[in-house]
Amino acid sequence: MKIGIISDIHSNSEALNSVLENIKEIDEFICLGDIVGYGADPNYCIEKIKGLNCRCIGGNHDFAITGKVNINYFNYAARAAILWTSLQLKKENFNFLLNLRKKIKLKDNVFAVHGSPQDPLLEYILDKDTASFIFSKYDFKIYFIGHSHLAGCFSFNEDNNKIDYNNFSNGGYVEISKNKRYIINCGSVGQPRDGNPRASYGIYDLKYNTVNIYRVSYPINLTKSKIINAGLPRSLADRLSYGR
Ligand SMILES: [Fe+2]
Repeated sequence: MKIGIISDIHSNSEALNSVLENIKEIDEFICLGDIVGYGADPNYCIEKIKGLNCRCIGGNHDFAITGKVNINYFNYAARAAILWTSLQLKKENFNFLLNLRKKIKLKDNVFAVHGSPQDPLLEYILDKDTASFIFSKYDFKIYFIGHSHLAGCFSFNEDNNKIDYNNFSNGGYVEISKNKRYIINCGSVGQPRDGNPRASYGIYDLKYNTVNIYRVSYPINLTKSKIINAGLPRSLADRLSYGR
């Protein structure tokens, strides 16, 4: 059983298609939210996800579109994209976002959420202190998260209470150990922020108890031109080239 982990697509159809062309022999997809926002192809991306065997969580951008998250939490460019997206969405795609859940259970003690177990939509797990609090407060073996657009893994060693962080901005590999617990971010499909502009995704192999994170290139210039031609803020196009 292999699960494809995708997150933070952000209306980037070129990145999503490149990832889907690269993922092989997947039994199921899990989408960790932020299907829309920032990019120029919100309807296409939602319809692509609907066409997959995919369980999907809502992210803060998805829920801002539906009014479940206050738009004042977002910066100018993000707000502009949310307002633009809300005007573009077909009714059935708006309703799809409206009905997204906040958490998925993949198996015993393995969960997925957009931000963090404590605040599924808005909290970022960016450092060991935050990760340490989450490991101590919540009972889980693995939490898959998105939201930060940074591919990496916090691991907690139960033998010595030590927390490590592995940066997966160039891809990576986790072999799930009996004595460790994990918070894993497989990175962002459509707007990476870890310095690598290539789209990021993961594969969770339940048979071998491994997680692989991969990066794949996509036609960034086409995506950028669509964002600019849509009248979205220029910064949303430029940042794609730098992965920031
Ligand atoms: Fe996001």
